[in-house]
Amino acid sequence: MNSAICDQPYDAGPARPFLTLPGFCPGFSTTLKLEALNPAGSIKLKTAREMVASAHREGRLRAGAPLIESTSGNLGIALAMVCAAQGHPLTLVTDPNTQAQNIRHMRALGAEVVVVTRRDGNGGYLQSRIEFIERHLLAHPEAVWLNQYRNPAGARAHQRDTMGEVVDGFGVPDWLFVGVGSTGTLMGCRTGLRERRLATRLVAVDAEGSVTFGGAGAPRSLPGLGTSRRPELFEDDGSFLKIRVAEADTVRACRRVARDYGLLPGASTGTALHAVTELRGLIEDGARVLVIAPDLGERYLDTVYDDDWVTSTFGPAALADPRSPILSTGRHRPVAS
Ligand SMILES: Cc1ncc(COP(=O)(O)O)c(C=O)c1O
Repeated sequence: MNSAICDQPYDAGPARPFLTLPGFCPGFSTTLKLEALNPAGSIKLKTAREMVASAHREGRLRAGAPLIESTSGNLGIALAMVCAAQGHPLTLVTDPNTQAQNIRHMRALGAEVVVVTRRDGNGGYLQSRIEFIERHLLAHPEAVWLNQYRNPAGARAHQRDTMGEVVDGFGVPDWLFVGVGSTGTLMGCRTGLRERRLATRLVAVDAEGSVTFGGAGAPRSLPGLGTSRRPELFEDDGSFLKIRVAEADTVRACRRVARDYGLLPGASTGTALHAVTELRGLIEDGARVLVIAPDLGERYLDTVYDDDWVTSTFGPAALADPRSPILSTGRHRPVAS
């Protein structure tokens, strides 16, 4: 067993994992916290590591026991890394929005990958993935489901680690933009801000078509953000702003940042950056805005950065004109609590 590889704190050395995008929005600074520098390539290593460690501590997971989890990509890769290092067989339940490259990555780390193809009643796949897991657990009672959508360990990791890294490496942001999937990052940052008594304005960013903030679901094409079933972890206490962004705007923002800054953002990062442009009227001059960037764009080369995929999925308007600025559409307003 090589579990120590997952337990080492990552250290980006002198190149701090904070990158400012000069001139992104006039009047205030916009900085990314680059989580792709985690050894599993995304922020989800923190979630995976803490979920497995706390299950061991609580006696729910014994050495060598098999695990099963639902994932659209990054958690699967991170969990596959932790399970390979600790000797747990792992089954990952994905859907057709999961990039083929990510599935190959999970398999290369030794995980068994199942792709569920039936859409659920909200147009997504989450409920179908969960039903698959429930059937699997009946047939394999020895298997353990850590369930990232209801497991508080993920949020604890962000409360301690992600917020600790923000305060140590960046200081106190005036605004913090966080994309929401399982909502673990958001819930952890909210509690982390509160326990440190920080006055940072927190913004939760979701994809249009997701049901997390309420309303009807609709089909979505990008992994990472959004749900078709409200996560049990999510608790809306009114302490953060909520905004939903159309996937076509995510694509335009990602491609624009790639052309302007030479940085290839992942889809959730583009979504959160687009949300910054939408809310710029609320953000005071001189503010320091921090955006959590869960991963980078290599994992989206076949989607966000593929012209044919973008055109066939969203139409040609989603191919950003490299000469035009990222314009807010005015369509995305904060969602009422
Ligand atoms: C690409 C991507 N987007 C967004 C998130 C935020 O997800 P969550 O709400 O599950 O913490 C993650 C993972 O943490 C991610 O990997």
